[in-house]
Amino acid sequence: MALSRTQLHAAPQALKGKLLPQALKEKHLPQAVRASPQATSAHDAAVAVWLWAIAAIVFLMIIVGGATRLTDSGLSITEWRPILGAIPPLSAADWQSAFAKYKEIPEYKLVNAGMSLEDFKVIFWWEWGHRFLGRLIGLAFAIPLAAFWALGWLRPGLTPKLVGVLALGGLQGAIGWYMVQSGLVERVDVSQYRLALHLTVAFLILGMVVWLALDLAPDTRSPRLTTLTVAQRRRAWLIVSLVLSQVVLGAFVAGTKAGLVYNTWPLMDGRLVPNGLLTLAPWYVNVTENITAIQFNHRTVAYVVLALALWHAMSLARAEDDERISRTAVVLALAVVVQAVLGIATLLLAHGRIPIGLGLAHQGGGAIVWAFAVWHAFRVTRGTVVKARASA
Ligand code: HEM
Repeated sequence: MALSRTQLHAAPQALKGKLLPQALKEKHLPQAVRASPQATSAHDAAVAVWLWAIAAIVFLMIIVGGATRLTDSGLSITEWRPILGAIPPLSAADWQSAFAKYKEIPEYKLVNAGMSLEDFKVIFWWEWGHRFLGRLIGLAFAIPLAAFWALGWLRPGLTPKLVGVLALGGLQGAIGWYMVQSGLVERVDVSQYRLALHLTVAFLILGMVVWLALDLAPDTRSPRLTTLTVAQRRRAWLIVSLVLSQVVLGAFVAGTKAGLVYNTWPLMDGRLVPNGLLTLAPWYVNVTENITAIQFNHRTVAYVVLALALWHAMSLARAEDDERISRTAVVLALAVVVQAVLGIATLLLAHGRIPIGLGLAHQGGGAIVWAFAVWHAFRVTRGTVVKARASA
């Protein structure tokens, strides 16, 4: 027996935030869940564990990528050999050959001239580790995916999504090389545009994997009534898009080394709004090439995200609704507070160089904020039956 929308809206107050009765539950289950009798919850659990493990390695990859950048190691391997590149130099002659190739690029000549082989090995291992982890993620994704598919453990509709994530992962490897290439001739570091693209795709992959893993939880198949308003639901998605924009802006801060100037807070050059925000023409070039504007934009969007996340968490807490929704909003708001503090500390303690520990905490913190934003948006979208009100 399915309930009509009117009956649903007339559901008793006591049901809000509670599990739905069976009839209502069936009606509001995601389509894929209803249409897949052969996939059991035990299979879902196995697939979900695998996806959470993938999310953990992608997170680790984001940290290792940050360490590779912060130790200036990213240009130490000057060629792209997707398969053979997994084997590091094994003999003294191999090391000399790899070092000789590095000596040909501008970064060595202009920044690291005279570097010892031992120092070269340190930067080589960071870049090699980053690429090796990328290969490992590819295998850890593709092999179980093929096995789950062959066993028929994947719910209908899930296979193409997972294949899409796998393809994006492959593309990410190519984008990584495209980024490295930009630093091999003429420049001593990589293009900030390509770095931003590489970081953004990493975050998108993380977000997709988290979403797909959450979608397999038994909890998701227990829809609850909620009094969430349309405005609150939209706000959750606005936060997702603002956090992603903030990540892109952060990548531009990192890619242009804009964190090494204006190391004061809350003022920049003694002002809340510094001079020199629009010195380049045309005006829009300032967004991605003017380090004053790049840092100012990253600060400003941080304040907007912070204010919105706190307001959103408070507005949901007052609604006394499904506690899964209000709890994720609070966790998200707290993560944003910590992330902003880490960003400010990174800036204040950067004396000619970003402190590696803080830089990594801020990069990892960005990934955690992003995952929580996705988690919260998932909660307001899936597993709930909205009893919509007209206004916020
Ligand atoms: C919502 C809050 C924030 C988020 C999600 C965020 C995210 C990010 C991300 C993803 C990056 C690039 C990752 C990296 O390469 O390190 C970054 C870089 C950076 N952010 Fe933030 N950020 C936030 C707030 C702040 C604040 C409030 C400040 C300082 C006022 C700040 C200062 C910096 C600096 C200095 C860098 C460059 C670090 C480097 O070169 O390694 N961030 N941020």
